[in-house]
Amino acid sequence: MITRVLLIDDDVDALQALRMGIESEYALLTATSYKEAVYLLGTQDIDIVVTDLKLKDGSGLQILTYVHEHLAHISVIVITAYGTVETAIQSIRSGAYEYLVKPFRLADLKRLLTRLAETQNLRKENSRLRQVLQLEKRNIQFVTVSNRMKRIYELAQQIAESKTTVLISGETGTGKDVLANLLHSFSQRYQSSFVKIDCASIPENLLEAELFGYEKGAFTGASSQKRGKLEMAHQGTAFLDEIGELTPFMQSKLLRFLQDGEFERLGGTHTLNVDVRVLAATNADLEKKVKDGSFRSDLFYRLNVIAIHMPPLREHVQDIPFLIQSFIEKYNALNNKQVQSVDPQVIKHAQRYSWPGNIRELENMVERAVVLSREPVLSLIHFPGLAVGPEAAERTIGVTVGMSLAEIEKLAIEKNLIYYNNDKNRVAQVLQTGLATLYRKIKEYRIGEP
Ligand SMILES: Nc1ncnc2c1ncn2[C@@H]1O[C@H](COP(=O)(O)OP(=O)(O)OP(=O)(O)O)[C@@H](O)[C@H]1O
Ligand SMILES: [Mg+2]
Repeated sequence: MITRVLLIDDDVDALQALRMGIESEYALLTATSYKEAVYLLGTQDIDIVVTDLKLKDGSGLQILTYVHEHLAHISVIVITAYGTVETAIQSIRSGAYEYLVKPFRLADLKRLLTRLAETQNLRKENSRLRQVLQLEKRNIQFVTVSNRMKRIYELAQQIAESKTTVLISGETGTGKDVLANLLHSFSQRYQSSFVKIDCASIPENLLEAELFGYEKGAFTGASSQKRGKLEMAHQGTAFLDEIGELTPFMQSKLLRFLQDGEFERLGGTHTLNVDVRVLAATNADLEKKVKDGSFRSDLFYRLNVIAIHMPPLREHVQDIPFLIQSFIEKYNALNNKQVQSVDPQVIKHAQRYSWPGNIRELENMVERAVVLSREPVLSLIHFPGLAVGPEAAERTIGVTVGMSLAEIEKLAIEKNLIYYNNDKNRVAQVLQTGLATLYRKIKEYRIGEP
């Protein structure tokens, strides 16, 4: 693990000398003022700060205080001039890990840095292990090989601790739920609940009670008090799925909660205050909904502070072999199977397929293949959905540019009649048309006639 060190000194020559002395072993950043240093601390991932005590627009002690308050994981070395031992003591008291008195030997600084870098590596390793452990404990798999998915994973680590609302968008099956779970597991909130609310499947009046809870007697049937999901998520995370389906009334109620963190239970007068991190997901185009007026723009901006788009699987096909392998292992374990791997042909076809159901569709296909296989290596015969052999040809209709709608319709009916052994009921059903219409079209297109 490379250690990133920020050197701060307003004396450019001194800074240069330090830089040359330790450059080869660390990733270095330099700042010549307090302001510049704070900017870098806020925007870069830094492990160790080495700062001179005197800066033209502040002091090393201020840096120390800033780091202590905002970025407590960073180690700080303060460099003081000879004769200011009191300030050195003061800096230790305010949390510096180490100090060096000028003039010092480069070897002394290097020794300090090596020790702190070791501590930092341990800290990083610990936090990585804690994260992995959390994911395992909660049974979350997040395969990340492609750069696109890696960036999303890293972003999740970066923003997990913040309380900012995140809006996760993407087609069905792309991993929105998984990402929401990651964000929860990566944060200290993992010790409290992760509460999911599906906004699409619950009718408006029930959703309100579900989210905010109700008091006894709030409506007919409310025979006792009930806490809402937001209360249950206190100090944890609330995940609002299918947020685009919220009615205007629920949108305004949610907006108030997001703005003030406050709400009342239904039928209640007592205002409740909870500490909840809100994550929202949608597979609808919310911006479009804002434009056509079906989604409040103020709520949209509230939710959209951090936006993460989960790409469709066809846009990160590099992950497919790794996803397949991880699903093989998952379903081996669940079904007591010993599938080893997959034929490269399957991967080739899978990387060309369009995956409308994305990762979920791939997972289902692999599950089916694992369950049905008797061989240690899965091949194309275990993936009928991917095959393009004679069997697939039977189920494929060749439509080319320039054909009329009538010709396409005729072909569709013909092919389906063959495939379904002339079962007209079944064909009418799959084509989603009436039986009478089907008979009329068969006659009109003279299907089955020489
Ligand atoms: N990166 C990944 N690695 C491994 N498995 C994944 C990954 N992303 C998603 N999955 C798996 O794919 C399936 C679908 O994921 P998920 O439920 O998160 O999708 P979604 O975007 O929430 O879908 P929907 O819009 O239908 O709610 C799940 O079974 C999940 O475990
Ligand atoms: Mg989902």
